[in-house]
Amino acid sequence: MGRRPAAWCCALLLVLTLTARWPAATARFVVEKNSLRVTSPAALRGVYECAIGNFGMPQYGGTMHGVVVYPKANRKACKPFEDFDLSFKPKPGGLPVFLLVDRGDCYFTTKGWNAQNSGAAAVLVADDRVEPLITMDTPESSGTEHIENITIPSALISKRSGDDLRKALENGDMVNVLLDWRESLPHPDERVEYEFWTNSNDECGAKCDMQMNFVRSFRAIAQVLEKRGYTQFTPHYITWYCPEAFVLSKQCKSQCINHGRYCAPDPEQDFSTGYDGKDVVLQNLIQICVFKVANESRKPWMWWDYVHDFAVRCPMKEKKYNRECANGVIKSLGLELEKINKCVGDPDADKENPVLKAEQDAQIGRGSRGDVTILPTLVVNNRQYRGKLEKSSVLKAVCSGFEETTEPDVCLREDIETNECLENNGGCWLHKAGNVTACKDTFRGRVCECPIVNGVKFAGDGYTNCEASGVGRCQINNGGCWKETKNGKTVSACSNEESQGCKCPPGFRGDGVTSCKGKVSTASSVGWGFLWVIFFGLALAGAGAYAVYKYRLRSYMDSEIRAIMAQYMPLESQETTNQQRPVDHADI
Ligand SMILES: *[C@@H]1O[C@H](CO)[C@@H](O)[C@H](O)[C@H]1NC(C)=O
Ligand SMILES: *[C@@H]1O[C@H](CO)[C@@H](O)[C@H](O)[C@H]1NC(C)=O
Ligand SMILES: *[C@@H]1O[C@H](CO)[C@@H](O)[C@H](O)[C@H]1NC(C)=O
Repeated sequence: MGRRPAAWCCALLLVLTLTARWPAATARFVVEKNSLRVTSPAALRGVYECAIGNFGMPQYGGTMHGVVVYPKANRKACKPFEDFDLSFKPKPGGLPVFLLVDRGDCYFTTKGWNAQNSGAAAVLVADDRVEPLITMDTPESSGTEHIENITIPSALISKRSGDDLRKALENGDMVNVLLDWRESLPHPDERVEYEFWTNSNDECGAKCDMQMNFVRSFRAIAQVLEKRGYTQFTPHYITWYCPEAFVLSKQCKSQCINHGRYCAPDPEQDFSTGYDGKDVVLQNLIQICVFKVANESRKPWMWWDYVHDFAVRCPMKEKKYNRECANGVIKSLGLELEKINKCVGDPDADKENPVLKAEQDAQIGRGSRGDVTILPTLVVNNRQYRGKLEKSSVLKAVCSGFEETTEPDVCLREDIETNECLENNGGCWLHKAGNVTACKDTFRGRVCECPIVNGVKFAGDGYTNCEASGVGRCQINNGGCWKETKNGKTVSACSNEESQGCKCPPGFRGDGVTSCKGKVSTASSVGWGFLWVIFFGLALAGAGAYAVYKYRLRSYMDSEIRAIMAQYMPLESQETTNQQRPVDHADI
């Protein structure tokens, strides 16, 4: 552990220097709003602004009626309401309850979770200070697994609105309200433009997992919308640059490409191990280039396939997060590798890359859209989406961006039919004979999974190889092994007993795949040969198991260390930029 503090300091220095030049001085974060309409009592009637929280599910394009309830106890909702014998489930025929709670003492998400479990339909958090509305964000720290399960919408209201509502309730008034998201997004025409600001790093914990889950579940819908011309989707990637004075430092060299011009934070937040920031920037660049090249050939939706397959086939934890593996994915999908390589250019060259330069420029807000400072961020019709990054809620947002009556069918019913295996076999493995495939179309989009044919299980990665395995494997193409029929007698190098591989039958020598040659040999030497094979097999298996054990131990330690460091090292841009300007989003 002695070396850690040094690495930690360097990392911190780099973060500070990197972010110092990040356009924070001009950063403009836009708090996305919906409205809260109080319909009674008469004295309070009117429309109040509230800020959509960055968790839970806002009902974009919709409205929700309810009555406001201020709990008798546990008013900050930091503890489960069960502990106070309080429940806010509406009685049959009753209006849904919007629970009004006070800001402070615990995470916003904790309040949302406790409100949801008490039966409330929405949670209104009243600010405890006079200030412009802020965005309630999700915390970075662990112990917040429930965030993914928050499904009720949340909104922050001003201190003044909170005081008014509480006063009316104290007077015994019934407070009826309507939460309205119909105007949260502009919906000017028949096409929705949306952007997803993401990154290719797959080792950043909950946030990275959330991005991947979103890509996995939204891919099918995104592709249908794009193919039918309903949407224009563009992926984006945030990059930083190293200040000139540090370009030659070890830190800039390991975190940046093109001589300090484009950088990303170290994935493990530890410079001494694993992948470096420059690996992430390079993969981000490849992903942008995949999009560009696919878009030029009028197939922009291929980006979703590439990103999904890359994450599955080339994860950091399997040490496959590299260019070679990326090229394999590109080839499987039938994308033009040469064009992509040309777009990526030379990462070591001391010159600008026009593609990454354009990404840096795009980070800065334009018009109604603020600067992108939270990763991941979804921008729909030039407005930042707030709420959980989840299929149905994002679809609601996209759908609310169409001019009325022009929305596609998927907005009205969710069952969409596609068969993604029809095109290019979905990028999955296909048998030479063309009649056995690893592509399966599911409602979550296609998966590449080795099939079971006539009871014979195929094994492999599903993308580049699948081989018949186990009992019965010799029935399929003779298990890929050599076979010869002479004088009505068939000899084969395939054996059902062996789980894999081909072995020439006794009396034959060869690789077992392309050839086996008859040879006079005594039965005993073949027997001994067989024993040697078993002996080596066992030795190999033992070594393999040990390697897996060591690897597991290491990745466990890595994640422990990362968790500890993450508490001290704000690497996400929103936290560091927050320190330099008034808070416009917070997690408590
Ligand atoms: C969240 O939901 C998932 C699936 O519905 C469930 O397995 C998990 O236990 C839930 N987590 C919590 C903290 O309730
Ligand atoms: C993608 O292609 C469309 C039409 O060919 C074009 O209008 C759009 O600007 C392209 N997007 C990017 C990011 O290159
Ligand atoms: C696939 O085609 C080959 C040759 O046409 C045939 O021998 C084999 O039985 C077929 N396999 C299946 C599973 O249909």
